[in-house]
Amino acid sequence: MKTLFVRHALGEYPVVIGSNLENKLVTWLSRSRLGPRLVLLSHPEIMQLYGWSLIQELHKGGFEVIALTVPSGEENKSLEETGRLYCELSRNLIERGTPLLALGGGVIGDLGGFVAATYMRGIPLVQIPTTLLAQVDSSIGGKTAVNCGNLKNQVGVFYPPRAVFSDLKVLTTLPPEQINNGIAEMLKCGVVKQPRLFSLLEKRMESVKALDNRLIGEAVLLAASVKTDIVSRDEREKGLRQVLNLGHTVGHAVESVTDFGISHGSAVAIGLAAACRIANRLKLLHAAELGRIIGVINLAGLPSSLPDIDPSAILGAMKHDKKSVHGKLKFVLPVHIGQVVVRNVEPEIIAEVLSER
Ligand SMILES: NC(=O)c1ccc[n+]([C@@H]2O[C@H](COP(=O)([O-])OP(=O)(O)OC[C@H]3O[C@@H](n4cnc5c(N)ncnc54)[C@H](O)[C@@H]3O)[C@@H](O)[C@H]2O)c1
Repeated sequence: MKTLFVRHALGEYPVVIGSNLENKLVTWLSRSRLGPRLVLLSHPEIMQLYGWSLIQELHKGGFEVIALTVPSGEENKSLEETGRLYCELSRNLIERGTPLLALGGGVIGDLGGFVAATYMRGIPLVQIPTTLLAQVDSSIGGKTAVNCGNLKNQVGVFYPPRAVFSDLKVLTTLPPEQINNGIAEMLKCGVVKQPRLFSLLEKRMESVKALDNRLIGEAVLLAASVKTDIVSRDEREKGLRQVLNLGHTVGHAVESVTDFGISHGSAVAIGLAAACRIANRLKLLHAAELGRIIGVINLAGLPSSLPDIDPSAILGAMKHDKKSVHGKLKFVLPVHIGQVVVRNVEPEIIAEVLSER
C-alpha cells in the first residue's frame, strides 16, 4: 500500500493505493472522526460487486450506512439525478458532518462529488474509485460536475475530497474497454511528465493490461503521482494543470463528431498521436520519440489515427473548444517523452496531421 498526498487551499488529502483496502478505509474514517452515519453512493451493479461487502466492514467498524444508487451511464450525471439525491439525503436526515462515500467510476465520482459539495453547502466527500480511469485521473484533483442536457460538465465546483481510496482489486471485473480508457490516460501521464511510466508501458503493456499485481500497482501509482503533483501546484487550473489536456483537444472533438460512438480511451489515443505528429512537424519532437509514442499506442491496441472521419468535421468541432483563440487552437505538445509545452497551432497543420494514416 502506498499513499500520495494532494495539497489544496485548505490543507491536504491522502490518495491511498493498494489492494483490499476496506479495513484501512474503516480505520481512517474512525481516526478522522467521520460518522457514525455515512452515505454510500454507487451504481446497482457496483453495489452488488463491492458495495454490500464494504457495508459489512463498515457495520463491523460501528458505522451506520445509508446506501443510495443511481443507474450507470453518463446520462445519469445529470441535474435530475442531483435533485433526486438531494431529496434522498434530506429524507434520510443527513446532516452537515455526514460523509458521502462515492464508490464507482468517474460518473459516480463527479456526480457524488457535486452533490457532496452543494448539499448543505458541503458535506465531507470520500472518493472510492472503481475504474482505472477514475483511479489515475478523475478521483484526484477535486473537479466535480454534472451535465446540463447535452453540455458535458457544464455545472460544477472544485471540491477536494477528504481522501481517495483506490483499491486495485476492483479492477479485475472491468470490461476491456474500460481498461483501455485508463491505459490511454496513463499513456498521457507518461508523455506529460513520467518517462518511467512510459517505459513500463512500452516494455510490459501486455502484463499491465492483464492486471499483473505488481505492475498494475506500479503503473497506477506512477500515473496518479503525475496528477497529484500537478493539481497540488495548480488546484484551480490557472495554468500548469492544462498540460493534463494532452490529447484531449482532438479527443473531445472526435467524441463529439462521432456522437460518443468512439470510446474516450480511443479518442484520447487519436488525440495524443495527433499532438505528437503536430509537435514533430513544428520540429519540437524528434521523429524517434514520435515513433516510440505511436508504437506504444498501437501496442495498447488503441488507434493512432482518425478512422473514416472527415478531418474538417473534427476541425469544426475543435473551433467550438473553449481553448480556441482568434481561430488558432491551443495545444499541449510533447517535446520529449516526459516534457510538454503549450502552443497555438494553425488549423492548416492540424488538418494535414489529421489526414495522416
Ligand atoms: N473530475 C475529473 O477530473 C474527471 C476527469 C476525467 C473524467 N471525468 C469524468 O469521468 C466520467 C467517466 O468515468 P469512467 O470512465 O470511470 O466511466 P463510468 O463511471 O461511467 O464507469 C464506466 C462503466 O464501468 C462500470 N464499472 C465501474 N467500476 C467497475 C468495476 N470495478 N467493475 C465492473 N464495472 C465497473 C460502471 O458501472 C460503468 O458502466 C465522465 O463523466 C468524465 O467526464 C472526470
